[in-house]
Amino acid sequence: MVSKRFFVIFTIVFALLLGLPFTSTSQRQPNVEQRIDALLARMTLQEKLGQLQQLDGEANGNFRPEHRDLIRKGLLGSTLNVRGAQRTNELQRIAVEESRLKIPVLFGFDVIHGYRTIFPVPLAEASSWDSAAAEASASIAAAEARAAGVHWTFAPMVDIARDARWGRIVEGAGEDPYLGAAMARARVRGFQGHDYSAVNKVMACAKHWVAYGAAEAGRDYNTTDMSERTLREIYFPPFKATVDEGVGTFMSAFNDLNGVPASANPFTLTKVLRGEWKFDGFVVSDYTAVLELLQHGLATNEADAAQLSLNAGVDMEMVSRLYNQHGAELLRSGKISQATVDEAVRRVLRMKFRLGLFDRPYADDARERSVILSAANVSAAREIAGRSIVLLKNDRETLPLAKNLKSIAVIGPLADNQVDMLGSWTGDGITADVVTLLTGIKSKVSPTTKVSYAKGCEIAGDSTQGFDEAVRVARDADVVVVAVGESAGMSGEASSRSSLDLPGRQLELVKALQATGKPVVVVLMNGRPLTINWMAENSHAILETWFAGTQAGNAISDVLFGDVNPGGKLPVTFPRNVGQEPLYYNHLNTGRPPDANNKYTSKYLDVPWTPLYPFGFGLSYTQFRLSNLQLSAPRIRADGRITVSVDIENVGPRAGDEVVQLYIRDVAASVTRPVRELKGFQRLTLRPAEKRRLEFMLGPEQLGFYDREMRWVVEPGEFKVMVGNSSADPNELVASFEVQK
Ligand code: NOJ
Repeated sequence: MVSKRFFVIFTIVFALLLGLPFTSTSQRQPNVEQRIDALLARMTLQEKLGQLQQLDGEANGNFRPEHRDLIRKGLLGSTLNVRGAQRTNELQRIAVEESRLKIPVLFGFDVIHGYRTIFPVPLAEASSWDSAAAEASASIAAAEARAAGVHWTFAPMVDIARDARWGRIVEGAGEDPYLGAAMARARVRGFQGHDYSAVNKVMACAKHWVAYGAAEAGRDYNTTDMSERTLREIYFPPFKATVDEGVGTFMSAFNDLNGVPASANPFTLTKVLRGEWKFDGFVVSDYTAVLELLQHGLATNEADAAQLSLNAGVDMEMVSRLYNQHGAELLRSGKISQATVDEAVRRVLRMKFRLGLFDRPYADDARERSVILSAANVSAAREIAGRSIVLLKNDRETLPLAKNLKSIAVIGPLADNQVDMLGSWTGDGITADVVTLLTGIKSKVSPTTKVSYAKGCEIAGDSTQGFDEAVRVARDADVVVVAVGESAGMSGEASSRSSLDLPGRQLELVKALQATGKPVVVVLMNGRPLTINWMAENSHAILETWFAGTQAGNAISDVLFGDVNPGGKLPVTFPRNVGQEPLYYNHLNTGRPPDANNKYTSKYLDVPWTPLYPFGFGLSYTQFRLSNLQLSAPRIRADGRITVSVDIENVGPRAGDEVVQLYIRDVAASVTRPVRELKGFQRLTLRPAEKRRLEFMLGPEQLGFYDREMRWVVEPGEFKVMVGNSSADPNELVASFEVQK
């Protein structure tokens, strides 16, 4: 006893000496659950329901007048979109000084790829295949957001997306569960750190639970119907990864899932999330998703909708107010229980404690001024954008360009475009911060290089009026850089497209430029894979830059002129034709795999079955060679592990990055398995002639699958291991091993 007391005193004195906030987190506060018990015991039902309510602020970040009143009465637990230290502090002061129980408000906001310093869109960042980069950008976004009074981001979006028509493909990490899980973990780590009560961290939210990315026909909000195996093997893993990383919240999705909308689905919300995964944070509905149960045809009236969502496991209701309006009557009639309400409130309060809001409810506006858009943040945005760029084509070494060219023509509707570079979800980013491609190129080339610009045409629309001038500018130049693609609003929420072609007259513009005979470098800016067959065939070089954020122009110029050697790889398949969608590399085989010489095999009459660019593809200004693939054993037990090792060498003239990718195939099993599955990757930098040996480990987590009874099993038999630089590398190395009976 004496020694324990001594230890406590010693710890406090030591912490004070170091200036540590020794009571800042619930992790260090074993009594959080008791404090919640005490609060629950004092709360009225309306105050409890208030904690389960989240309301929207105004588009400019301000709160609404009614928020003040609701908060004073203890009837509003959280807002979204209210931000800025001053505004959030004003509301918070009402909560912690004027409300009866002094429970702080939780401020949420969509900080998707940056708060004020905007990083590349998430799909771009996934193209870096670099979890450290994703973690770093999330970490900076968190620091800026928290300084501005935001506690909670509705990110990461970890929906697998196999259909490029779906506009929200831009918000996630693409089509693959393994890469998706790696990115998901990194982003949660970046946002939350190990203690999100810290002044530079926010609580994360894994969304949209679940299978939202499989919306039928790629049409946003549409219905999803899929087997439990596909759910568990393809759509769940990135979500599970966020739980393993300690994510604080989940968001329930808009879509219907196998007949039970995701925002009222007890199987996903309770059985899997709480029962199997032991998630102890809370679930927020997506925007009015509780009310939408009426449109789905699941709920007969508003009270019914509230009851269905709450009982299924949605703890907090975003924007619609059905829990609040109908909670009392539902409780009286026994359609919801006191225990269910209390448990939901407990989860919300637990996260408020974990965020340290009871101890430090306010944001610090001095900090807000110093952290936001700091020079270090801006330079990180440039570096991460550079790592996200994918070189799709580079004929006759058109790239990198020399900095002392006599003249360069910069053309296209996206070449000097500050607005669209921020992509979908711009946080508090502002266009004036954005460096355009034209500006980036001008600051990169030597003073003697003449840089001329012509817009050529709009992103969409029919006018070709600007073509003549663009062609004139191109004719006068040594090289043409043309920036084409989509506007920011063409991907993201409610932005599905039925065509993946370049919108408007942009392709004609590129053709007109190509006809000048000058070397043409296409810089793509877009939020989804596009069908770019003509350019893939005819242009000299193509860079996929997605929407690269605040520093887009500088980062792209770094790559164009060789200060950065591109090392990104596609996290999604590029089809040749929209009719191939959904097109993804890890598909099952058919009984009649495509065979060019046999009509009665699985393919199309009018387009090859193969993608234009496969998942994992990306070139470099140097070349790499893989060799010497070895397995640590010819056979292992089902619970065993095997080490795969391989040499990678830079055999080209420049330093550069390669992403070495390991795929497996379970050749025959009790349920059919994909033709290949990514199970490991490493991005590394090599100097010319530098050679390194890489190791990958495969064990039950990588080799298993869900059998017919939905048990995770590793079955005996042959496994193939393929190591290459994409999912369709003609020079990949192949080995196989046996899992023993
Ligand atoms: C609807 C979107 O689906 C979701 O991703 C977002 O977080 C919420 N709106 C809040 O803005």
